[in-house]
Amino acid sequence: MASFSTTLASSMMLTLLLLSFCEAKDIVVGGKTDAWKVPSSESDSLNHWAESSRFRIGDSLVWKYDAQKDSVLQVNKEAYVNCNTTNPIAEHKDGNTKVELDRSGPFYFISGVKGNCEKGEKLVVVVLSTRHRLISPAPSPMEFEGGPAVAPISGASSLKGGLLVVLAVLAWGLF
Ligand SMILES: *[C@@H]1O[C@H](CO)[C@@H](O)[C@H](O)[C@H]1NC(C)=O
Repeated sequence: MASFSTTLASSMMLTLLLLSFCEAKDIVVGGKTDAWKVPSSESDSLNHWAESSRFRIGDSLVWKYDAQKDSVLQVNKEAYVNCNTTNPIAEHKDGNTKVELDRSGPFYFISGVKGNCEKGEKLVVVVLSTRHRLISPAPSPMEFEGGPAVAPISGASSLKGGLLVVLAVLAWGLF
């Protein structure tokens, strides 16, 4: 039988884990300082990095770069595809740029340095809709109702769902 403290400890860890899923994060583009540059190869590209990362509404992208040498332009899809730096949605050149991902869907960024976007210094980040936040693919309502013992947790109810799971674990440990 699990002791109370063991149960409590594991519950707390579970809660922390769930909170870490829910919490809005600052995500450093490329995972490190000075990643905003012309990539040396395809596998070094920021889009390669972006494909292996998850972005959710409320998260912020953070670019760290030398403000003397580069800038970040948020652009529309057309300007992204054509590397058109003429009329960006927003221009950032402070060397420590933060952009909040305040909606679902794609966000497009290119370098403001002439020629760099063409050489691959560009980034598209796709923010998942709330439906897909924690578990993907999202279960249909049908699956949810008739579904497995562990209920899928989604969107706005994720925190509540997380606490329910913790309570269930506690109850299981105690009785
Ligand atoms: C770049 O975009 C601007 C407007 O946003 C447009 O007037 C211009 O023709 C575009 N340039 C190229 C090369 O597509």
